[in-house]
Amino acid sequence: MHGTGPPILLTDVLDDVGAAIKLLAQRAPYPALGGWYSPGSDPHARTRPLWFRSDWVNETLAVPGSEVFFHHPGYMECARAYYGTKMVEPHSVYVNLMMAMPIAGPAHTDNPRFAGRDQSNTPMWVLRAMLESGLFDDVAFPQATAIWWLNDVEGGGIRYWPYGPDHPPVEHADKMANTALMGNTHGMFHQVNAIGPFDIGKPQITPMAQLAPADRPDGEWVVIDHGEEVYRSPLADIRVSVQWKADVYFNADHRTRLVSSPLGLNDVAVRFNADLADRGIDLVFDVDRIHDPDHAAEISQHYPEARPIDSLPAVFDY
Ligand SMILES: [Fe+2]
Repeated sequence: MHGTGPPILLTDVLDDVGAAIKLLAQRAPYPALGGWYSPGSDPHARTRPLWFRSDWVNETLAVPGSEVFFHHPGYMECARAYYGTKMVEPHSVYVNLMMAMPIAGPAHTDNPRFAGRDQSNTPMWVLRAMLESGLFDDVAFPQATAIWWLNDVEGGGIRYWPYGPDHPPVEHADKMANTALMGNTHGMFHQVNAIGPFDIGKPQITPMAQLAPADRPDGEWVVIDHGEEVYRSPLADIRVSVQWKADVYFNADHRTRLVSSPLGLNDVAVRFNADLADRGIDLVFDVDRIHDPDHAAEISQHYPEARPIDSLPAVFDY
């Protein structure tokens, strides 16, 4: 089946890595990773790892120079081969910068998107339950993802489960600089290993912290938090990864179905409720309660996420 095999390793991805470093500097300062694992946290509490993120390409943004990733011919060719289709439509590029994280990132699959349902209009727990349930596979947007690495840092490998969460993971580590993995990170669990240096404890920042070059983009970068420098690192020791994502369609009919038949929340409820009733579970997915954490918990317990074997304790547990 297309789009379910192990990811494909690409080497010597960029002819000019210096172009990526220039691009990196252009988008600075980088905000601390917001969001999905610690929403609503105290803006003045140092509770977060040194993990920064920004978009380079999205629906409304295209940072000049990002074409080296967005229109990478090798990515297009590889994604088409992986999924066995010519219809690959890149839609986003974003960058993660991580450093001094002695605890691994969360083992996860990337967040799903369905016809008419995505993070802009649907709570994450609903999207995750839709994914885990398997009830919405016909309206899921297949995604091709390439992850590229700038540097070889201390630690920082990627661990992934190409044969499913019940089979042992494999790792891409050590020789990562200017390589990329292309595959289906929405279907395949993956996890960022711990990142050095490992002899300085576990530095943490507030959600307000920012990362920027001290001077030259290829020199030292500094983390400023509430006006104070709290960390400094050569770029060479920062784990920089660039994610490229594309929609994938298997034919014109598939594309038309996904793009022109948006699912309403009531459609979502109908499918869940038919499934819950089939399984004899005395529970109703209630559209009016999708922002109620109790409802999220009671529904989600019936659509649990796998925990891949040999995953590392994660930064979640901070
Ligand atoms: Fe991911």
